[in-house]
Amino acid sequence: MSKILVSVAWPYANGPRHIGHVAGFGVPSDVFARYERMKGNEVLMVSGTDEHGTPILVEAEAEGIGAQEIADRYNKVIVKDLCELGLSYDLFTRTTTGNHEQVVQELFKQCLENGYIYKGTQKVAISPSTGRTLPDRYIEGTCPICGYDGARGDQCDNCGNGLDPDELINPRSKINGETPRFEETEHFFLDLPALAEANEAWLKTRKDWRTNVLNFSLGLFREVKPRAITRDIDWGIPVPVAGWIDNPNKKLYVWFDAVIGYLSASIEWARRQGDPDAWRKWWSDPESLGYYFMGKDNITFHSQIWPSELLAYNGEGSKGGEPGKFGELNLPEQVVASEFMTMEGKKFSSSRGIVIYVKDILARYPVDAVRYYISVAGPETSDADFTWAEFARHNNEELAAAWGNLVNRVANLINKNFGQIPVVNPAKLDERDKALLELSQAAFDTVGGLIERQRQKAALGEAMALVGDINKYISATEPWKIKDDPERLAAVLHTAAQAVADANHLLAPFLPHSAQKVWEALGGTGTFSPLPRIEEVEDLDKPGFTYPTITGDYQLGETVHPWKSEPIVEGAVVPKPTPIFAKIPPEAVEEELNRFQAELDERKAKAQARFEAEQAKLKAGQVHE
Ligand code: MF3
Ligand code: ZN
Repeated sequence: MSKILVSVAWPYANGPRHIGHVAGFGVPSDVFARYERMKGNEVLMVSGTDEHGTPILVEAEAEGIGAQEIADRYNKVIVKDLCELGLSYDLFTRTTTGNHEQVVQELFKQCLENGYIYKGTQKVAISPSTGRTLPDRYIEGTCPICGYDGARGDQCDNCGNGLDPDELINPRSKINGETPRFEETEHFFLDLPALAEANEAWLKTRKDWRTNVLNFSLGLFREVKPRAITRDIDWGIPVPVAGWIDNPNKKLYVWFDAVIGYLSASIEWARRQGDPDAWRKWWSDPESLGYYFMGKDNITFHSQIWPSELLAYNGEGSKGGEPGKFGELNLPEQVVASEFMTMEGKKFSSSRGIVIYVKDILARYPVDAVRYYISVAGPETSDADFTWAEFARHNNEELAAAWGNLVNRVANLINKNFGQIPVVNPAKLDERDKALLELSQAAFDTVGGLIERQRQKAALGEAMALVGDINKYISATEPWKIKDDPERLAAVLHTAAQAVADANHLLAPFLPHSAQKVWEALGGTGTFSPLPRIEEVEDLDKPGFTYPTITGDYQLGETVHPWKSEPIVEGAVVPKPTPIFAKIPPEAVEEELNRFQAELDERKAKAQARFEAEQAKLKAGQVHE
């Protein structure tokens, strides 16, 4: 039995999540975690909302309320969405907890002690009108390298070069157009060059990573510079150094703290279990494996920044050192990054209305239809497009017609002829029956092996191929025509039911909600595939601060069934079935497309009106001068 840490990227609490987000980090991590639990491995799956940094401040400003209020608001929304998707976190928490702050500060202090964090100065951009710092990507100007006018303070999208904001020609704020002023301020830096050798050596030992993820990660080591890990900002984790800790305008950089969330959430989970050291099983035991799930824009932070923070904490860079009080911590086993999803051929954009929020799609369609689409057509190793037509087609042809009808047909025949799983006389099993059962048993290794190698699309394809084989078996054996040989009929329906039960095991990581229904349709009792729940908790360190978490009971043998063919129970009552999947009618697709177009038009009209109002104001201003 292995220990598997499933580390899922932390969504920013600056707005509701759309299906592009959950296609990248959400569903794939849950499929993997559910499979590993069925395999009998000890899984800890953690995440939470990412609540610090500029993304939250910008939204707070836009909505005219405080950063903590924004974080509270969207933490709740995101928790609800992810729970309704059935994502089986052991703990989904947040980064504004007292526990997270303590763990982050412990890591910072030990890295400082080991010499991998040092003080220096950095030129930062300040907005003259607000006196606040302007983050790099909110500054625009002309690229000093290629002359492109829309370059950002962190990089030029035209020539691809990384930039510092003060290198831009004619820099201006993207927020209000003013020219920033640059000032040298003091900051702490993570000495990435001192960690690069160890970090790259670790990367070179990685096996089975998706090639594009590994190549991108190795490319990060062509040129390594120290990175500032503090910001001139009033929202974030205080810098645990005398003279800094009480400074309201100096905080830790959001990415420095966010990646530590995997560790702090594991610790919070253990503390909440009443076994405060339980997290060590997943972090200190070298046999324990950590799998990190995210979209491709997060790779740098998980292949370089987080491993470098861990190496610095462990004292394993070129300057040596000692681990802090948590002891030596495991580096990731695998960074599992997916590509991007677009919508109807366009890049997702909340502001332009090119978006379908998790809440909205779940309000109109069954959750497993959404999970199925993401699994079968998501951006696993190349960019993928969400279209309503394909969403309906996959649901109708594969879930409803191939799988749903099969379950229904088998349950119906059993109900009509026996009312229960029939007893089988082994002498009545023929070659076709045995061949099908062999196929369905062999599928466990095939499908499982693919999930282990992060090839979920192929895994789902194999499971659905078995569904096709069972359908063929039914067509070939024609049980509805077996009139006067009840023992043969029993043999056929028993075989079919066993194969359906096997296919249901194989599909359970992808379709946990309907797997429970299929299980019951064939006479199963108890929990077959557990779902997460929301639990409101009080912060362990900040009395009075309460928040919703996602958690659940996912115990093999209790709520989780094993990854193997389990004999169906003869005599189990099979009720008259009701359909488990529904078809999405063509009118629904049309309606969605109209809704989508209307949304686009409305946004466009609003933007146009805003533009005209600005122009009018400008004109009026000029007249007065
Ligand atoms: N909030 C980041 C994003 O949405 C992801 C953070 S992953 C973490 O891109 F682990 F660092 F938190
Ligand atoms: Zn350029």
